[in-house]
Formats: sequence, structure tokens, C-alpha cells
Amino acid sequence: MNASLATVSYIASTILFILSLGGLSNPETARRGNLFGMIGMALAVLATVLSPRVTPAGYAWIVGALVVGGAVGLVAAKKVQMTQMPELVALMHSLVGLAACLVGFASYVDTSTVFPTVAEKSIHEMEIYIGILIGAVTFSGSIVAFGKLSGKIGGKPLLLPGRHLLNLAGLLIVIYFGWAFLQAETISAGMLPLVIMTVIALLFGVHMVMAIGGADMPVVVSMLNSYSGWAAAATGFMLSNDLLIVVGALVGSSGAILSYIMCRAMNRNFLSVIAGGFGTGGGTVTQGDSAQPEGEVSPITAAETAELLRDARTVVIVPGYGMAVAQAQHTVFEITRLLREKGVTVRFGIHPVAGRMPGHMNVLLAEAKVPYDIVLEMDEINEDFPQTDVAMVIGANDIVNPSAQDDPGSPIAGMPVLEVWKAKTSIVMKRGMASGYAGVDNPLFYKDNNRMLFGDAKKMLDEVLGALKS
Ligand code: TAP
Repeated sequence: MNASLATVSYIASTILFILSLGGLSNPETARRGNLFGMIGMALAVLATVLSPRVTPAGYAWIVGALVVGGAVGLVAAKKVQMTQMPELVALMHSLVGLAACLVGFASYVDTSTVFPTVAEKSIHEMEIYIGILIGAVTFSGSIVAFGKLSGKIGGKPLLLPGRHLLNLAGLLIVIYFGWAFLQAETISAGMLPLVIMTVIALLFGVHMVMAIGGADMPVVVSMLNSYSGWAAAATGFMLSNDLLIVVGALVGSSGAILSYIMCRAMNRNFLSVIAGGFGTGGGTVTQGDSAQPEGEVSPITAAETAELLRDARTVVIVPGYGMAVAQAQHTVFEITRLLREKGVTVRFGIHPVAGRMPGHMNVLLAEAKVPYDIVLEMDEINEDFPQTDVAMVIGANDIVNPSAQDDPGSPIAGMPVLEVWKAKTSIVMKRGMASGYAGVDNPLFYKDNNRMLFGDAKKMLDEVLGALKS
């Protein structure tokens, strides 16, 4: 393939990636968006492999790497549960960071490119230094994020004394060694500052993510997503590969926008997330200064739930992480269909951080073929709860916690939530009284108009469906 054909293919891939991102912004066009992304990536890989910069001697290495990498990706995608997706994504980001580091070191020791001016050589070395810096932070940060998300490392934030000063000192040392690196006359002289910076960047990545508490981890994953994009863009600069620069910038900026959206959904300030210290390990009840909920818990049976649903005119279903764990979405769809046939208005209320990854609930509901037009976002449905007969919460907890609004001492104070308690009756379906991801108790369970349907979501919904049919 000649160079201009490769350039045309790269431009086509770039357009396909942009169309892909555009498609992914809406559930109805998401499939098409994915397809554009896949075609774009296949074209990009083909154009790169067949480009004049790859010599025939390199083909064996490339095919070997494609087979190994493709096999690992295929097995991982088949084996990983939907609920483990954020862990897999974190692990993938670490690979992008590692690749940026390796490409950086390889470009530095590669003497085949001769730079005509000192300025061009310095710019190339700066690209290497910054590329390795971002890559190393992404690599170690993503590994720790993987450990935290998979429960291998505790979710509690690690707060070292004087941690901000430590970070500042690290930054100053990195700047100093950057200067030393650019002054180095030989490769061996430049290697020492480069290695020292890499070690500091690795330690910084570990320190940064260790300081972030469990409740902020979703934001961290999307932030690392953004970092991995910038690491890829830096790799593109090192290799003078325009496509990598554009794709890296797309991933970097979309990850940053997603982090911002998620911060807003959790009412967190982006800088305070990065500064760390918020949140606890998932699943443990931590009250902080918050008050103990008062009132009695009123259980309900599946048959009584079916009765309430049958008599309702309007029902809003709020799914959460537990629906994903129980894989109850298909039964939810069956119940929705049956109720709609009986003339009940059924809609879904989706919180932006319901479940464990962005769009988690939308993906599950789309898989179960729930019509998109009855799946509404939190802001669209919240004002309708006072006119709702039954709000049915399926395996959700933090996203329907009224203490986020009522209790300034609560660890989730200020997080926008779905106001299910404003419905005539709310029914919460979960196995017991355990807390959710943020580890806080939920006063909703003790409200007068709330009923608890205890049990596995799939099992209980099957019973509700059976009762509705009978
Ligand atoms: P959570 O607050 O985590 O609550 C889920 C509830 O589901 C638990 O309290 C659990 O109670 C119940 N559950 C678990 N397995 C179940 C099963 N098989 N059947 C029935 N119930 C089951 O979930 P949420 O309300 O969706 O909120 C999401 C939380 O995760 C937020 O705090 C959010 O910040 C965080 N987070 C979100 C993301 C993204 S990007 N979406 C990523 C990481 C973390 P029992 O044990 O009593 O059954």
C-alpha cells in the first residue's frame, strides 16, 4: 500500500470513529455506532500493517502479536460478566499506558531516525518524556483501579500524611529530570533521568488512585479512560502517526467529558475527586455524622406486589446493580409487557450511575428488548413520582437514598437521586438490608409508604410474573 492510500484509509477511519462516538450517544443508534467503530478499527489496523513503514520481515511479529492479543481479548470478552466490565476496562487502560511507556523507551533508543535540527530532536525527546510520563501514571493507576474494583485491594482511601506535598515534590522532581533529560548528550546519559521519572510516575499513579475512595471509583475509571487516550495520542506523536493522535485525542476528550458528567450525577467536584479521600469500601455501613433511620420495615409478598401492580394506573420501575447481578431484565420485560397489555402505564427511571458502569441499565434493558421510549433519565422522570401509583425499585439502593437530599452528614449528601418515596407506594426488591456501593444505610426502607420484597430479584420477579398471569 502506498503512503497516500494509507493516509486516505486513516482519514476514513477517523471519520468512522467520529460517527461511532456520535452513534453511541443514543441507545437506538448504538449498534450502528459500534459497527462504525469496528470497521474503522479494522481499516486502521489494515492500513497500518500494509503501510510502507512496515517491512516484510516485521509481518511474522505482527501476525504473532495479533493472534495472541486477539485470543486474549476474545477469551476475556466471553468470560467476563457484565458486572465485571469496569474491572476489564481498567485492565485494558493499563495496557494502553504500558504500550505508551514501551513505545517511548523504544523510540528513545532507536537511532534510525536522524533529526535535521536540534529543535526537532528536542521536540521528539519532549514527546517521549511526556508520553512515558502519562503512560506510566495510566499504567499503575489502572492496575490499582482494577485491584479496587475487583475487591483485591480495599476500597478505603489511603491518606498518607502530607500527600499533597508529596505529589507536589514528585511533580518538581519530574520537571527537574525532564530538563536533565533534554540536556543529555548521549542515550546512556538520558536513560537515568528517564528511568527516575518513570519510577516517580508509576508511584504517583499508585498514590493517586489509592487515595480515592470506593464511592468515587466510577469517576476514576472514566478519568483513566481519558488518560489512556492522551497516552495513545502521545504515542502517536512519538511515532508520527496522525491516526493515533486523532483517536487518542477523541478518547482523551470523551473520557474527560464522561468524567465530568459522572461527577455532576454524583454531585462531586472533579478536583475533589482527584484530591481523593472520599468514600469507603463498598458494602460496609458507615454512618459518618448521618442519623440512624427511624421507623419500621414493612415486608410484602410477591402476590401482594402483583396485586398492587395490577391495580396501578402508573408504574415506574427503577433498576439498579442488583437487577444486573440477578440477570432479571428479561423477567422485568415480561412484567412490563403484561402490565402494558392491561392498560397500565409503565416507564423506567434510569440514574446516570445506576449499576457499575455508565449506561449499565440501558444496555441490560435494550438486551431484554424494553422499548427505548419508556426508558427515561432521572431528570425526565423525577417530577412524575408524585403522580405515580407504584415505584418498583429492583436491586437499587444508593440511587434511591433520600438521605442524599435530607441529611447533610451523609457520605452521599448532595448526590441527585430518584425520588421514589414520593410515589403513592414504593416497593424495594432486594435480598436483605445490606447497604449499596457507597456503604450507607437507606431511610427509604423505613418509610410508611415503602414495602420491602425480600429475595433474589430474578426469583421474586418470576413469582410476581406468575401471580400476574394467574
Ligand atoms: P447499589 O447502591 O450498589 O445497591 C445495589 C443493591 O442491590 C444492594 O444493596 C443489594 O442489596 C442489592 N442486590 C445485590 N444482588 C441482588 C440480587 N441478586 N437480587 C436483588 N438485589 C440484589 O446499586 P445502585 O443503586 O445501582 O447504585 C450504584 C452505585 O454504584 C452508586 O453508589 C454508584 O456511585 C456506584 N458505582 C456506579 C458505577 C457506574 S458508572 N454506574 C460504577 C461503580 C460504582 P442486598 O445485598 O440486600 O440484596
